[in-house]
Amino acid sequence: MGQGIAQVTASAGHTTRIFDAQKGRAEAAIVALRGTLDKLLAKGKITEDQRRHTLENLAAGTDAKETCRGADIVIEAIPEDMALKVALFSEVRDVLEPKALLATNTSSLSITELGAKIGAPDRVVGLHFFNPPPVMELVEVVRGLGTSEETLSRSLAFVAGLGKTPIVVRDVPGFATSRLGVILGAEAMRMLEMNVASAEDIDRGMELGYRHPMGPLKLTDLVGLDVRLAILDHLTREIGDQFRPPPILRAMVRAGKLGKKTGEGFYLWKDGVATPKR
Ligand code: CAA
Repeated sequence: MGQGIAQVTASAGHTTRIFDAQKGRAEAAIVALRGTLDKLLAKGKITEDQRRHTLENLAAGTDAKETCRGADIVIEAIPEDMALKVALFSEVRDVLEPKALLATNTSSLSITELGAKIGAPDRVVGLHFFNPPPVMELVEVVRGLGTSEETLSRSLAFVAGLGKTPIVVRDVPGFATSRLGVILGAEAMRMLEMNVASAEDIDRGMELGYRHPMGPLKLTDLVGLDVRLAILDHLTREIGDQFRPPPILRAMVRAGKLGKKTGEGFYLWKDGVATPKR
């Protein structure tokens, strides 16, 4: 998600610096982005000028503080762990522009709690992008109890400037989209456990019968099984048992089968293409 969001902000003209705690990953993201932009250029989707400007706007940092120094917005897309998010924002807070927006791409965690724990509730906002960020039009803008009017209006302007469409959502667990999205995915997994149909046929049913662009199991592979498990666990605690993760999901996460990013989930993935498991 971080790489995709960086593509979106850099191509919209923002100087964009990427940081990843795992050494080498930010640099790898730049290399991957160069490949993506080359493909888009070859397909005639962007011009040579757009490719060059986007790349000029991108840089990788090796230290969180230095990467964020002087920034007027930070968008975190790290794992769904409140303590990690609090630690990251606490580390970089003092080197940002004084009125910098502190934005989180969380799919479900509380913006209100994050704001309180960082000690800057007025400047914390949820900017929830969708996978793949360069293609998906929506950004959920999530307003915590302490998020100020100014932060909200600056966030809406920022999202519009990225060419995306925002919806404003109150800070409730799962916001407006995750709680519906994960229920569909979890039910598809339960159906797979019950041998109702193959993964491809469950997906095909929703693609052809409901015109979803991608079936719920392939979409889970795209999003990441670990990400969906974390959301379901959180929503089970916050809302109730209807979100309890199916055992197959937990087992696959324990086995390291996280979907597209690890090459295997409900499908096998190679070069971004899914093939059914036999
Ligand atoms: N930058 C810019 N454009 C890109 C791109 C990139 N990185 N990657 C792909 N594209 C463009 C392609 O050029 C292509 O454009 P054209 O149609 O004009 O040729 C278009 O995007 C579609 O790409 P593909 O042809 O490769 O693939 P596709 O037609 O099979 O569509 C898909 C792929 C967009 C992912 C589609 O299947 C889809 O919409 N799936 C559902 C995605 C979804 O539901 N996402 C939400 C997940 S939930 C989430 O993210 C929230 C959370 O909290 C977990």
